[in-house]
Amino acid sequence: EKGGFDHFMLKEIYEQPRSIKDCMRGRIYPEKGLVQLGGIKEFAEKLKNIDRIVIVACGTSWHAGLVGEYLIEEYARIPVEVEYASEFRYRNPIISEKDIVIAVSQSGETADTMAAIELAKEKGATIFGICNVVGASIPRLSHAGVYTHAGPEIGVASTKAFTAQVTVLTLMALYMAQQRGTITQSKLIHLLTELDNIPTMVERCLLSNDSIKEISAKFKDARNFLFLGRGSGFPVALEGALKLKEISYIHAEGYPAAEMKHGPIALIDEEMPVVFIATKNSSYEKVISNIQEVKARKGKVIAIVTEGDTVVKNMADFVIEIPDADEIFLPLLATIPLQLLSYHIAVMRGCNVDQPRNLAKSVTVE
Ligand code: F6R
Repeated sequence: EKGGFDHFMLKEIYEQPRSIKDCMRGRIYPEKGLVQLGGIKEFAEKLKNIDRIVIVACGTSWHAGLVGEYLIEEYARIPVEVEYASEFRYRNPIISEKDIVIAVSQSGETADTMAAIELAKEKGATIFGICNVVGASIPRLSHAGVYTHAGPEIGVASTKAFTAQVTVLTLMALYMAQQRGTITQSKLIHLLTELDNIPTMVERCLLSNDSIKEISAKFKDARNFLFLGRGSGFPVALEGALKLKEISYIHAEGYPAAEMKHGPIALIDEEMPVVFIATKNSSYEKVISNIQEVKARKGKVIAIVTEGDTVVKNMADFVIEIPDADEIFLPLLATIPLQLLSYHIAVMRGCNVDQPRNLAKSVTVE
């Protein structure tokens, strides 16, 4: 049932080229520059006029929401707020019938996320669900939605569900941009053509598995880890840190790289591994300065870089390459090596990666 893999988590990491492809099937037409999302098409008109989107989720799904914020604001130019469902539900949130609330959930049964959408529904909002489990409670409570179609996820640590959620949010952002006319047709064709190629690029990311395993062996006894990124690399950093802490029990924090100097830099010494998302995109130069700041304090740098990068390679202790792609797709690629890193470290520490202590696959209590 684990298809020859030692753990479900590893199997699910390796399923991502296929799960991402399944998620896009029938939804994108690159040559026509067209995105179709049957699940939300009856709201196409509403999408043209909305002023705001609120995304509610927990854990890894909340990280996907942060990526969604970046994508929707960039391409559809709609202001987005991303909320922890558990915080949103216990405030008196300002929500009206003009708002769209998107609930992101692998299981579709997370108690806090369900309560958040019930509250938003009472206030008249339109609810979209992004869910993996077909027919679960969240899709049933939603007015419309888009399934991720990643297939059953058994490992408690979410991997393929995350990349599928990010894929759906990418499709939604481009769909909204198309409806609202905030993207040119040629740009849309370009992005959809590249998106179509992401499964192949994810396959290339998986080829780094052996070198990631070697790096993991060097850091398996670390007591702390920092993960730093900027822009859409920031949610990737948060996700990398969450994955490591939940399965290896190493304390890890994700931060926007620029925030380091406002506190976390005090933690850096020769014992501190720092993982940087340092690919060639709009924040590349800035991230390089942050790497210098860490190296100046003798921190150990593991950098996720764009294939062929030489600048970061000369500064970092270890680099892991990912294919070059448009910045919009960074989270789909940069997350893969981080999943593998936490997996190998956890296995080397003798942890139960598929069923980490104290965690459950769906959190049906608040
Ligand atoms: C992390 C993880 C959890 C879930 C969270 C939300 O690997 O699995 O953080 O992401 O409990 O669960 P869903 O997405 O089912 O609502």
